[in-house]
Amino acid sequence: MRALTLITGKGGVGKTTVASALALELSRRGKEVLLVSTDPSGALAQIFPGVGDEVRRVAKGLSVVELTRRAVLARWRRRFGEEIYQVVSSLLPLERDVLDYIEGVPGIEQEFMLSYLLEAANSGEYAQIVWDAAPTAATLSLLEAQRLFYSHLTQAHKLYLKLRGYLKGADPSQLIEGWRRLTLDILEMLRTRSEAWVVAQPERLPVVQGLELMQALREFGIPLGKAVLNRFLPEDCPRCGPYQSKLARQRRWAESWYAGCPQNSVTLPELTKETIDREALRELALLLLEDDSGSTHA
Ligand SMILES: Nc1ncnc2c1ncn2[C@@H]1O[C@H](COP(=O)(O)OP(=O)(O)OP(=O)(O)O)[C@@H](O)[C@H]1O
Ligand SMILES: [Mg+2]
Repeated sequence: MRALTLITGKGGVGKTTVASALALELSRRGKEVLLVSTDPSGALAQIFPGVGDEVRRVAKGLSVVELTRRAVLARWRRRFGEEIYQVVSSLLPLERDVLDYIEGVPGIEQEFMLSYLLEAANSGEYAQIVWDAAPTAATLSLLEAQRLFYSHLTQAHKLYLKLRGYLKGADPSQLIEGWRRLTLDILEMLRTRSEAWVVAQPERLPVVQGLELMQALREFGIPLGKAVLNRFLPEDCPRCGPYQSKLARQRRWAESWYAGCPQNSVTLPELTKETIDREALRELALLLLEDDSGSTHA
């Protein structure tokens, strides 16, 4: 298992649940784990009450942080200060407020989020980082942001000339080189130290989107860790028609899922407990980590 595990999939399929279960179990097995959520829904606080945008220890070996957009941008501003405002604002029309530019430039926020993960990965504090990423589209745009950012930076020479007259004090070539290196480091982290776990439910949209996401991740160069099919209904069902037809539908979509990712599938059951507590998470985690060598559905 690679050091950064990215948990992704369509909205509502169980990403936060899977990420929490995995992080808890890995820490229980003695790893020092950081669970990072960039999911704006705040669902992580349901599982770990009191988590926020500062890293917080919630169990032995497990730290959790809920990284809001606001926290990431504030952190970045503290670190790069005025210089970055000047660079960004020099690339865009100047009538608008510089802060608005910073927050509105496509990819900038995602770049900041990724740099947070890179720092955490490089800090040496954690053996494993589990990243509960935002839903599918946002995750993809995050990866796209990397391409975008990099293509901006390849025009660094033009940028330099443009900035030289504009920046007072700061050396634009140094700034650009710093950004370029950061982007390369992030790309390298994503491609060599990360794996993606794609979560879906056995239904049409989550399966179709999940399989598309796997393809996009593959093209980007991030290997698939596990393909998690969550909330599968039990076989022995009550004598009721709707349940039967839902089960039949689930089986059909499960077949598409298994066909798309035959090596890495794990199936998790629909849990019947009122709340998903730590015991329930453990049950899921044991299934998630049961067999690293192949499929568990056969
Ligand atoms: N195996 C399961 N059995 C029963 N309920 C589950 C299971 N997995 C997840 N849930 C429930 O489904 C809901 C959505 O799960 P979760 O918040 O993990 O999804 P998500 O993919 O993170 O959603 P979002 O895209 O909104 O961030 C939660 O109420 C969670 O408790
Ligand atoms: Mg979530």
